[in-house]
Amino acid sequence: MKLATGILYTEKQIKQRVEEIAQQVSVDYAGKTLVLCAILKGSIPFLADLMRRISLDVRLVLIEMKSQVDGEHASILFTSSLDLSGKHVLIVEDIVDTGITLDYLLKRLEVERAPASIRVAALLDKPEARKLDVPVHYRGFTVPDKFVVGYGLDWQERYRNLPYITWVEPE
Ligand code: IMP
Repeated sequence: MKLATGILYTEKQIKQRVEEIAQQVSVDYAGKTLVLCAILKGSIPFLADLMRRISLDVRLVLIEMKSQVDGEHASILFTSSLDLSGKHVLIVEDIVDTGITLDYLLKRLEVERAPASIRVAALLDKPEARKLDVPVHYRGFTVPDKFVVGYGLDWQERYRNLPYITWVEPE
């Protein structure tokens, strides 16, 4: 696979959209303590930009997950410590593709951590690939059914550091 020459979303477009989401989150959670629950590693740039634009009392949890290669299972590898019971949780995800990873996480958090509420902020949404119906409350952009990279998203651990979003395609 090689990097495409085109760009899906520029650095400027991403910055503006993240700002809009941060403003909406700040309004929606006004007066509440918000726990951002970021899924490693792809959400790191989104998390870093989003959290600095949210004007609320924000806490942070980092979760590393494994989406199985067969695309049918997910598992949690690591969770940083913080009590989520009774807290308002916003999951920060890079992309919702099949929805399997998010569906698994939502169920685990709801059952085991008893938060007051859980919502999802996903930078990218790839609806054509969806297998499970999962809620996406804050969506950056919708992308076509391509393998997208950049701004945290990787292909075989490459391209995470691109400041824009593009895709990889066959050589
Ligand atoms: P899921 O298919 O919704 O479970 O997606 C799980 C994870 O796969 C996402 O959080 C991403 O880390 C990764 N992923 C899915 N689609 C893409 C893509 O197009 N580019 C890069 N990573 C992806």
